[in-house]
Amino acid sequence: MKAIVYTRYGGPDVLHLADLPEPAAGDRQVLIRVRAAEATKSDCELRSFRYAVRWFWLPLRIAVGIRRPRRRVLGGYFAGEVVSVGARVTSFAPGDQVYGSAGLRLGAYGEYLVVGEDATIAPKPRNMTFAEAAAVPLGGLNALHFMRRASIKPGDQVLINGAGGSIGAHAVQIAHSMGARVTAVDQAIKEELVRRLGADDFIDYTTEDVATTGRTFDVILDMVPGSPYRRLIGMLHPGGRYLNGNPRLSVLIRSALTTRLTDKTVTVAFAAETKQELAAITEMIEAQEIRSIVDRTYPMSQAVAAHRRVETEQRLGAVVIIIGEPDEPAGR
Ligand SMILES: NC(=O)c1ccc[n+]([C@@H]2O[C@H](COP(=O)([O-])OP(=O)(O)OC[C@H]3O[C@@H](n4cnc5c(N)ncnc54)[C@H](OP(=O)(O)O)[C@@H]3O)[C@@H](O)[C@H]2O)c1
Repeated sequence: MKAIVYTRYGGPDVLHLADLPEPAAGDRQVLIRVRAAEATKSDCELRSFRYAVRWFWLPLRIAVGIRRPRRRVLGGYFAGEVVSVGARVTSFAPGDQVYGSAGLRLGAYGEYLVVGEDATIAPKPRNMTFAEAAAVPLGGLNALHFMRRASIKPGDQVLINGAGGSIGAHAVQIAHSMGARVTAVDQAIKEELVRRLGADDFIDYTTEDVATTGRTFDVILDMVPGSPYRRLIGMLHPGGRYLNGNPRLSVLIRSALTTRLTDKTVTVAFAAETKQELAAITEMIEAQEIRSIVDRTYPMSQAVAAHRRVETEQRLGAVVIIIGEPDEPAGR
């Protein structure tokens, strides 16, 4: 099978096409023909091994390969079609169109992918193409996890820092659907997009410091590494909740003290990405509460350009790589 691989850490140019053996499904596994995969910020971070948050550099490097990447095929989030299933699989059958997360094993930049039957996969939303569906699981799963942990009530004032990114753009939609009044922070080119997704107010971080606006919030979701922790906590109402998906070591340490010693709650979390959460996302898509936002699609042969697009930070929505032949039907 064709796959986009990398055999050393570095810039987008380390990505190239290669022929790899086609995997086979074990007893409790599902073999999926991948049709589209999101090129995510996390894929770029794994490829370059450059992280704004440094405390997990060493444990992560040990996990993914000290001298070179152990797993050569990136891609965590995808949509595709079930080709075959193991003898003991009961919930999927050949021909099913699915979408979801490949988890820590990655591999969605290859034409075929094997995942466990119990992996975070679900039937693809009926109203989406493969490319649109592949653009959802990263942002949707992570945003839903954070927004549920924030216990949002109708009328809550919610600030989303990094609102134009994959996770932030889904958080805007989910918070809006929960009845919150959403203030989005990102750079100006993303204002129109996040307002369309449900943001009521917008702050351009390149011209205005959010912490000096005098505004206060019930919930702050912060996806930006290196934000001013103390000042953001100071912007919370009594009983307010601050959630950080990209915490520095100092934030990890201070978060426990803030929760214990003040009337504010701090959550630093890595989303578990469960099957139940993906089912909830599918329902929200079919109820038109969540939309897929695809910035551009690229064929496998242009994976380098896809990663460059993610890293230039100019994208409006998800960058998606079409896996396999680009001229196949879109699969709505
Ligand atoms: N906790 C978890 O479970 C979890 C899971 C997945 C990913 N992550 C991490 O979370 C981060 C965000 O993920 P993502 O996929 O949503 O990334 P993303 O798509 O790159 O989104 C980040 C957004 O934040 C904006 N931004 C940058 N600096 C900002 C600032 N000072 N103030 C406000 N906005 C700013 C970026 O805009 P620009 O265009 O200006 O840069 C971009 O729109 C990644 O670093 C990723 O590794 C965490």
